[in-house]
Amino acid sequence: KRVAILISGRGSNMVSLIEAARAPDYPAEIVLVLSNRPDAAGLDRARAAGIPARAIDHKAFPDRAGFDAALQAELEGAGIELIVLAGFMRILTDAFVEAWAGRMINIHPSLLPLFKGTHTHERALEAGVRLHGCTVHYVVPELDAGPIVAQAAVPVLPGDDADTLSARVIVQEHRLYPAALALIAGGGAVLEGGRVRFTAQAR
Ligand code: GRF
Repeated sequence: KRVAILISGRGSNMVSLIEAARAPDYPAEIVLVLSNRPDAAGLDRARAAGIPARAIDHKAFPDRAGFDAALQAELEGAGIELIVLAGFMRILTDAFVEAWAGRMINIHPSLLPLFKGTHTHERALEAGVRLHGCTVHYVVPELDAGPIVAQAAVPVLPGDDADTLSARVIVQEHRLYPAALALIAGGGAVLEGGRVRFTAQAR
């Protein structure tokens, strides 16, 4: 499967995906990295890894639909089959999301359906949960509400702050996301009727 990764920032998940995809038997090829922010540090990290990386500055477009149309054109031009959101901090239009239904995934730094949205680590600490983690899910129009593909949990430890907790979670993100992408690209998980069906190949 030909995969594009969409980022807005440092791109540490992107790097873990690019590295995993180098394995000869990995079922997905990362062929393009796009950022809505020209200053995203991840763009240079992608180029350093030999992946074409381009910015599509959302500020250059009058509305979300215009930005999404430019995005769509880039993705079609590169023959993309699967979109992987990795720290992509821009809301996509419902039309774009529907067009990519079952072919676009995201990683979210909480155990969904808890803590949708931003500042998940602070909110987990505030709520007093003893388990926290990350979730890979299909993208649907409702934010962070799509069908769940994979999750990893970490303990919340006494003395944790948002930094120590997020550092524990991101280690799991870097492991989980390449595994989840392999599952989907290899046909081990498919979106059917709004639910994830795990096929016989699922591990
Ligand atoms: C990750 O915590 C991811 O779960 C969230 O945004 C962060 C992106 O980090 N959606 P990076 O850019 O992959 O380093």
